[in-house]
Amino acid sequence: MDVHSYARPDRVRVRHLELDLDVRFERKIIEGSVTLRFDAATEAELVLDTRDLEIHAVENAAGFELGARDPVLGAPLTIGLKPGCSWVKVRYSTAPGASGLQWLEPAQTAGKRHPFLYTQSQAIHARSWIPLQDTPSVRVTFEGRVRTPAGLPAVMAAERAGEHFRMERPVPSYLIALAAGALEFRTLSDRCGVFAESPLIERAAREFADTEAMVRAVESLYGPYRWGRYDLLVLPPSFPFGGMENPCLTFATPTILAGDKSLVALVAHELAHSWSGNLVTNATWSDFWLNEGFTVYLERRILEKVYGREREEMEAVLGRGELDREMAGLPEGDRVLHLPLEGRDPDDGCTLVPYEKGALLLRTIEREVGRERFDAFLRSYFDHFAFQSITTADFLGYLRRELPVGLPLEEWIYQPGVPGGAAEPHSDAFRLIEADAARWQQGQAIDTGAWSTQLWLHFLRKLDTPDLARLDREFHLTEAGNSEILHQWLLMSVRGGYQPAFPKVEQFLCSVGRRKFLKQLYTELMKTPDGQERARRIYARARAGYHPIAQATIDSLVGGQ
Ligand code: BES
Ligand code: ZN
Repeated sequence: MDVHSYARPDRVRVRHLELDLDVRFERKIIEGSVTLRFDAATEAELVLDTRDLEIHAVENAAGFELGARDPVLGAPLTIGLKPGCSWVKVRYSTAPGASGLQWLEPAQTAGKRHPFLYTQSQAIHARSWIPLQDTPSVRVTFEGRVRTPAGLPAVMAAERAGEHFRMERPVPSYLIALAAGALEFRTLSDRCGVFAESPLIERAAREFADTEAMVRAVESLYGPYRWGRYDLLVLPPSFPFGGMENPCLTFATPTILAGDKSLVALVAHELAHSWSGNLVTNATWSDFWLNEGFTVYLERRILEKVYGREREEMEAVLGRGELDREMAGLPEGDRVLHLPLEGRDPDDGCTLVPYEKGALLLRTIEREVGRERFDAFLRSYFDHFAFQSITTADFLGYLRRELPVGLPLEEWIYQPGVPGGAAEPHSDAFRLIEADAARWQQGQAIDTGAWSTQLWLHFLRKLDTPDLARLDREFHLTEAGNSEILHQWLLMSVRGGYQPAFPKVEQFLCSVGRRKFLKQLYTELMKTPDGQERARRIYARARAGYHPIAQATIDSLVGGQ
């Protein structure tokens, strides 16, 4: 039972969707129809999830009723079924403020000349642009026909078949995705490529040149890639996430275009979801760690294969540090892997706990049984549960049967914090940086000429109450072009009251919509009365450019508009 859906898939289970959509940029709505095909009904009703949809008609049905709107869940659409019927067709349009859509003005795009639309369905936003059974426990195949203005082609996370799109493998609703804008395409390999607006396309193709090598790396570990093509789509900077693993077509923030491939862990991550998440899917949002914890573990295995052990170790240590930092600010109940989400928006469960604590558990199992046995286990896990949605209990049952381990699994999953005996990551390269950090703090000069992004991040995070003016004078951090380094520096500047960086803080918050960056910076600003005033002023300017999901997060930090 999924507490975040009104659907009753135990009674009627939708199997296939046919979408026929018009993208109307001038009105900021999608208008069209969806035909839902289901197992022949003995039931009298089909209940769908919706949020802020206008339902114009339901064809081949015995009436319909839109229920009351719940702030988290939206409104149930109850459709009367005629005896023996196996499909209905819903005609509808979306609301301009739909939570799963972002409509961008030309000024918010790289090209500045055309509008842009993209969807973000995870966790429960598909219902704001398609009436459907919006639970990851239901999987559907689908076809899509999408009309857009000339010059603004649509792409869907599916196989392109001439005029329309087709997804022949059953996917959960949160993986249904669409974008439209002035997009170009570059080939990366036979099965990989990248879409982006023309000002970014060459940079994107260079940044993602190792994509095919990454696909091969996962395939060598966990079996063939089962989704046909693997393409990337670079979105405008207001995209609220680093990336989104839409099948066949990862959506990505442009903030990872660093020029030196230093932030492509995100590609490894979204690609890894093609196994953990898209192939084997969390059945409810409380089981989210099955998606993200496994994916972070796989991501690091890809990094190790493609970029070497040292890089993997650095990423693992950085992730471990971020987990501790984030966990310190969370209530005990949210420091568990199996999340208590009843009555809450599942987006609220999206902390680093399912990611990094989940990955740490898998690393710990790997250490217990050895890499060879754990790899064989994971490969059989993906085969065994392929194209299924499973719960934490399903995973535990399979693990106990196939790979008994002497670890306190219940404690790992249901108790707060990191249990003793975890496989803690180490990085020798970081040891050297820590020595550099100590020397620098004693006033000595250090040679940072060959430092990677990961070394910089570790260095900055290791300094306590540093001389910010000296840091900026020596390393020009306010001018950093790398989004992660800049974000870390701006955080420190806000914390330390370093005024010369304040204009950059404002500029960053007004041009980037990636929620991870926004959340930390606004949180830091809100810690002092002065900062609160600046946060409110900046947010008043920036809010309209943020995605509805990011707006919701920052509203709760800074106070709504
Ligand atoms: N599937 C997530 C993004 C997501 C999670 C969207 C929950 C909505 C609700 C994606 O795979 C992800 O984890 N993105 C991370 C990047 C990753 C490298 C940790 C992000 O956006 O920061
Ligand atoms: Zn993920």
